[in-house]
Amino acid sequence: MSDQAQALRELIKAQSAPNMNVITVTGAKGGVGKSSVALNLSIALNKRGKRTLVVDMDLGLANIDVMLGTKTEYDLLSVIEGSRDIHDIIGTGICGVKYISGGSGMEELVNLDETAVGRIITQLLCLEDVADTIIFDTGAGISEIILRLISASNDTLLVTMPEPTSFMDAYALVKIMSQRKINPNIKLIINKADTEREAQSAAEGFISIAEKYSGIAIKSLGYILNDEHMVRAVKLQVPLLVSFPASKAARNLELLADTYMDIKTIDETGLMGFLKRLFGGQ
Ligand SMILES: Nc1ncnc2c1ncn2[C@@H]1O[C@H](COP(=O)(O)OP(=O)(O)OP(=O)(O)O)[C@@H](O)[C@H]1O
Ligand SMILES: [Mg+2]
Repeated sequence: MSDQAQALRELIKAQSAPNMNVITVTGAKGGVGKSSVALNLSIALNKRGKRTLVVDMDLGLANIDVMLGTKTEYDLLSVIEGSRDIHDIIGTGICGVKYISGGSGMEELVNLDETAVGRIITQLLCLEDVADTIIFDTGAGISEIILRLISASNDTLLVTMPEPTSFMDAYALVKIMSQRKINPNIKLIINKADTEREAQSAAEGFISIAEKYSGIAIKSLGYILNDEHMVRAVKLQVPLLVSFPASKAARNLELLADTYMDIKTIDETGLMGFLKRLFGGQ
C-alpha cells in the first residue's frame, strides 16, 4: 500500500465520528430493578454484537460487583485523583461483562476544576477502545450527577414497578427534567409486573399522565415479569441471562434488548459529545 493511501485511511479513521451509545438507567426509587436491568441488558446487547461497559454509580452497596461476584481493586476516584489509568479500573465478569465502579468518584465529577476535567475527559475518551455502548447504573434518588448524566446521555431507561410509590418517584424525576428543560429520550420499563396485561396498562397509564403534565415524550421499551429467578440470580452472583436464560424474566429482557436496538436514539457526536454535555453542565 502506498504511503498516501495509508495516510488517507488514518485521516478518515481520525475524522469519522465514533458510534458511541450512552444509556443512563434510572428510576429514582430504590430496589425497582435498575442494576438488574443494566447488567442483563449489557449482556443482551453484547450478544447482539455491541461492546458494552457498565458504570456502577451506586455509592452504597457496589451492586454490579456483587451481582457478578467479582471485585475491582480501584474505582473512578483513583482516575480522578490521577493515581490510576482508566484501563486499570475496568473489571471483567462472567461472559466478559465489562464494568467500572464509580465509587465516590461519581459525585466528585460535578465539582472538578478545569485541569481535573481535562484529565478525566482524556481518560474517559479511551473508553472508545473498549466499548461502543456505555450503560450507567444509577443509585436510588435524584442527585445532581444523575440529572447531568440523563441530560448528556442518548437514552434514559426509566425503570419503575407497577405500584403508586414507584410511579410517584419516577414521575417526580420526569417533572424535574421538564422543569430543567432536559430532553431525556425516556424509554420506560415496567419491572416486576404480575402479568403482561398489568404491565401494559401500567405503561399506558404512566406515559399518558407523565406526558400530559411534563410535556416530555416517553416511549415504552417493554416490561419484565415478577420472576423469582431474578432474586436467585442475585444470590448466585451470576446474571439472570447466564444463570436462567430460559426464565420468563430473561425472555422479557431479551425482547427489551431487541426493542432497544430498534428504537435507540442515535447520537452522532459520539463520546466526545457526551462528555462535553456532561461537563458543560447543560
Ligand atoms: N423482575 C423481577 N422479578 C423479581 N425480582 C426482581 C426483579 N427485578 C429485580 N428483582 C429483585 O429486586 C431486588 C432489587 O433489584 P435491583 O438491585 O436490580 O434494584 P435497584 O433498583 O438497582 O436497587 P437499588 O436502588 O438499591 O440500586 C433484587 O433482589 C432483584 O433480584
Ligand atoms: Mg442498583
